[in-house]
Amino acid sequence: MFVTFEGIEGSGKSTALRLLAAYLQERGHDPVLTREPGGSTLGRSLRPILLDARTRGLSSRAELHLFLADRAQHVAEIIRPALEAGQTVLCDRFSDSTLAYQGYGRGHDVERLRRINAQATGGLAPDLTLLLDLSVAEGLERAGERNRAEGTVLSEGRFDSESLDFHERVRAGYLALAASEPERIAVIDATQAPEDVLLQCLSALEERLHHRGTGIA
Ligand code: TYD
Repeated sequence: MFVTFEGIEGSGKSTALRLLAAYLQERGHDPVLTREPGGSTLGRSLRPILLDARTRGLSSRAELHLFLADRAQHVAEIIRPALEAGQTVLCDRFSDSTLAYQGYGRGHDVERLRRINAQATGGLAPDLTLLLDLSVAEGLERAGERNRAEGTVLSEGRFDSESLDFHERVRAGYLALAASEPERIAVIDATQAPEDVLLQCLSALEERLHHRGTGIA
């Protein structure tokens, strides 16, 4: 089972992913935890180029293709082998990030992005996507606090410093994607406390497994 976590900056994806992983581990599962950009060996070199606020002059096309290169390698090196071995993969960001950020955010044609993204992934799509949704104001506030606390304001801040309009387009883009694929994308209210966010994620997962005729317990 391939589960992805999506959302704007500061939506709490990484916390939700860790809590869901801990829940599954307590029940004897051994999920693979990974993320984009940066889940593969190549990706660890690409991540600073993509996220560092001091990266200058990266064109939006070059940015797009670096995210796709990161994803192609990540699928080949980490995700597909794990799924083929029967493991559950929990991934912080995947293809929907490209549609939301490079498509709705930067203005690349979304249908064209779907096609080139499918080339990068070899057609792999998540079984379930948890979209952690909250207002842009709240998300940026949380992301700012985290970056200050972790000292990553510059090293991870390139997207955080985009305009409010950009982040509003990304959020609206995510919600449009969720509306067009409600069976795959579950919208989670990310303003709730982490344990309530986990409960919402679990109920979306249960529902998905129920449709497939399997269970988590
Ligand atoms: P991430 O490390 O998850 O940061 P955050 O915790 O702030 O969400 O994501 C890195 C950034 O990369 C994030 O701002 C979104 C952006 N991104 C894209 O623009 N396109 C993509 O395809 C991916 C995977 C990420």
